[in-house]
Amino acid sequence: MLSKIRAFLMLGGIAIFANAQTPEFQGELLLQPQPNNLKCLSAANNTDGAPVVVQTCTGAANQKWVFTQGTVRVFGDKCLDVTEGLNQDGTKLQIWTCSPNNANQQWFYSKWDNTVAWTGRGKCIDLTDGNLTDGNQVQIWGCWNLNPNQVWSTGYRIDSLPDKSQNGQSGTNRCSGAGSQDSSCQTAWINSATDFCLFGPPIVGTVGDTERSAVAYCTKTGRGSRAIPNGTLQGVHFVRTPEYVQITGVGDFTKINIPFGDFGGEMDNRGADGKGNPIGGLVFGDTFGSGLQYHEWTEFISYNQFCIRACIGPRSKQLCNHIYDVMGCWWNMPANYAANVYEECQGNPAIPMGVYGTSTWYQGVSPTPPPHPAPASSSCRTLSTVGLSPLATPDSSPEKRHVADFGDAHVRDYVVPRIPRPTADSL
Ligand SMILES: *[C@@H]1O[C@H](CO)[C@@H](O)[C@H](O)[C@H]1NC(C)=O
Ligand SMILES: *[C@@H]1O[C@H](CO)[C@@H](O)[C@H](O)[C@H]1NC(C)=O
Ligand SMILES: *[C@@H]1O[C@H](CO)[C@@H](O)[C@H](O)[C@H]1NC(C)=O
Repeated sequence: MLSKIRAFLMLGGIAIFANAQTPEFQGELLLQPQPNNLKCLSAANNTDGAPVVVQTCTGAANQKWVFTQGTVRVFGDKCLDVTEGLNQDGTKLQIWTCSPNNANQQWFYSKWDNTVAWTGRGKCIDLTDGNLTDGNQVQIWGCWNLNPNQVWSTGYRIDSLPDKSQNGQSGTNRCSGAGSQDSSCQTAWINSATDFCLFGPPIVGTVGDTERSAVAYCTKTGRGSRAIPNGTLQGVHFVRTPEYVQITGVGDFTKINIPFGDFGGEMDNRGADGKGNPIGGLVFGDTFGSGLQYHEWTEFISYNQFCIRACIGPRSKQLCNHIYDVMGCWWNMPANYAANVYEECQGNPAIPMGVYGTSTWYQGVSPTPPPHPAPASSSCRTLSTVGLSPLATPDSSPEKRHVADFGDAHVRDYVVPRIPRPTADSL
């Protein structure tokens, strides 16, 4: 009996190693905690026993992690390691020279939840006390995937994008230069009404048929993508909220390969197989940090309407939820879609799509609830039109810190407007 148990445990152990799951994104990855994507999981230095901490992302070697054979490596030969293998909430993480089959160095990455579990132990990498201060050492804690302190999205620095970020990717993320209408660039930007991209078909075809290989079409030349030709956009509404940027509007998207009459579909960072739609599509922006990657985003596009939202922060998965893929723009992103209006506004965040009080509706369940009301917006600035224009050079650009119009480009610094409290005098 005992030997049977032992044999079972051994098989279990083998199965555990064989079950290692890695992110869909490949190469050297940043691991960014959901509460603040400006921070990165970092090795304090390159010595055995060095603490694993959060630090402001710099893209240095101590923040570039590679998932291989169940381990999470840094500096080539060091592994993310549970100190002393102590299976207890609060045990801190360190790096240690990798050794084969060291159970303290085996990790399971959930590409659905973006959690990193100590393989087979039910404990996850956890941002200790939710403390984002540089130097805070991370720990293991019982996995609970709704806890933003356990969500570690994998990403890239804008200055070190891979050629391809996912297996099976048709195009590339390493885009630069003037761009052309046969570019296969799959890196998109969302900065403002005049500087954004939409993913669209690479060749004439319905959105549903081409979503896996969609390419970036942008209002700016100079980042290596295709252009949204003048005359395509016929209404553009940009809104910045503390938790996302969003652009909604109308146009003639037959000019970017969508057949007339195609009601379109959804694109997002994570499709049914865990890869993006398009596979390897990445979205960046300057609103919440210079060249910051948006890990959670959702776009709908049809022959005559579009909407795209890119989210950051602890509610990013809810606010950019993309499970309602047949519900279209208006239901997912209630907002202004008026034609012939081009504007940039600040706004309040929406109620997360599908959430009604304490209950969540799932697509297909009858009856279908109405969309949420469009959130209030303010401080709108109207533009005469939005056309194709060159990306200004960084130093001379009047638009460079365009988003600074809305205050400090950092979500943490967003100040909710205060309503003066009535005083005895005013009552
Ligand atoms: C590495 O970090 C640890 C902990 O912070 C420290 O004790 C050690 O001196 C550092 N080693 C080097 C070589 O900097
Ligand atoms: C947050 O982490 C920093 C760095 O380790 C530490 O100095 C600070 O005391 C922590 N703050 C709290 C409230 O625990
Ligand atoms: C597109 O429209 C913009 C104005 O929105 C204009 O500056 C630009 O020259 C136009 N480009 C072409 C190729 O017509």
